[in-house]
Amino acid sequence: MEQGQAAKESNRSSKSSPVSASERRRSAGRKGSKVAQKDKRRKLVDATMRRYGHSTYALIETLHTVQEAYGYLDDDNLKYVAHSLRVPLSKVYGVATFYHFFTLKPQGDHTAVVCTGTACYIKGVPAIMKAFKKNFDVEPGETTADGKLSLLTARCIGSCGLAPAMVYDGEIAGMQEPEDIVSKVRAMIRNGN
Ligand code: FES
Repeated sequence: MEQGQAAKESNRSSKSSPVSASERRRSAGRKGSKVAQKDKRRKLVDATMRRYGHSTYALIETLHTVQEAYGYLDDDNLKYVAHSLRVPLSKVYGVATFYHFFTLKPQGDHTAVVCTGTACYIKGVPAIMKAFKKNFDVEPGETTADGKLSLLTARCIGSCGLAPAMVYDGEIAGMQEPEDIVSKVRAMIRNGN
């Protein structure tokens, strides 16, 4: 008798719930995909630390991975890296703020990464940097005042045959002239892609 009443109560409460079952499923799916995304990025960070045997030498490489995966070095990840590599948090912040290619701020709507590795540098990085400064008033590690564009640098993106190489919103483009860059970035900002 008591069990029957409990079942009725449970049935009543599920019927009166303002959130439908399909809505709950959709919401769970959304949460699940966010978690999956987060896990995937964290796995990349873990893989870098493993590659360097969790030694303290792994610090810079791991911070590179965090920035590539998350776009910038956020507090949570800095703490996670410090804890995992067993280095003081102050040291992690010290490294993160010493090198100009690391950024502690969220990026703009779009990102342009200039490869500053040797092959790319020789083939025109200084002119590329000048073009960014002149046309978008932005320097490496900065985001434009309107928040539309962040300019980052990488040491070598593995496309030396295409030097000078750039990465626009995650897509590699090779043999970039300053004029190409200006028109590409303007179109990217204008079209939102
Ligand atoms: S140096 Fe630029 S891709 Fe290797």
